[in-house]
Amino acid sequence: MDVQTPCVNRRQFLLAGAVSAMTVTLGSLFKGRVFAADEHKTATVYGFEKKWIAKLSEIKTGDTIVFLFPREDAHSLCTLYKLGVRAGGGIGPDQDIVAFSDLCTHMGGLLRGNVDFKSAVAGPCPMHLTTFDLRRHGMVVSGQATQNLPQIVLETDGNDVFAAGVVGLLYGHHNNMERRDRA
Ligand code: FES
Repeated sequence: MDVQTPCVNRRQFLLAGAVSAMTVTLGSLFKGRVFAADEHKTATVYGFEKKWIAKLSEIKTGDTIVFLFPREDAHSLCTLYKLGVRAGGGIGPDQDIVAFSDLCTHMGGLLRGNVDFKSAVAGPCPMHLTTFDLRRHGMVVSGQATQNLPQIVLETDGNDVFAAGVVGLLYGHHNNMERRDRA
């Protein structure tokens, strides 16, 4: 009988390993668990009370909506954007509605209102000029910050839009669940 042995080269092996690692990481993210960035820093995806943000049908391309989440303090400043282009984590018929923390992950510079809709990039941060790609989960485009801008998980229930979680560590926190008062 002719038995064929699967042939896997080094590149395929490494690629398979990387895909497995990503699957485990993404799986843990979207099961709503708390995961550890290191032993002192944790970022929570779910675990907060949902907050109503807007009526889906009333959000137009180029709109921004400022809100507080996950708490009612100044560390919880966030903005919802309707980008007009499909974005990672986007909701709505065009998957172009996203929301992010307004605090730069470098040293907490306030990004609110500082967005270029043509490129879907937030910033530059007024403190040290970091920019973040809102189509790609708040990935750093350029500048001093090294961490993605925390993305707010949005959900819809009929025509209502809710904030339901946070992906990434909010600036000034060791754990998103802790309460912080911004100086
Ligand atoms: S605080 Fe935003 S780049 Fe430094």
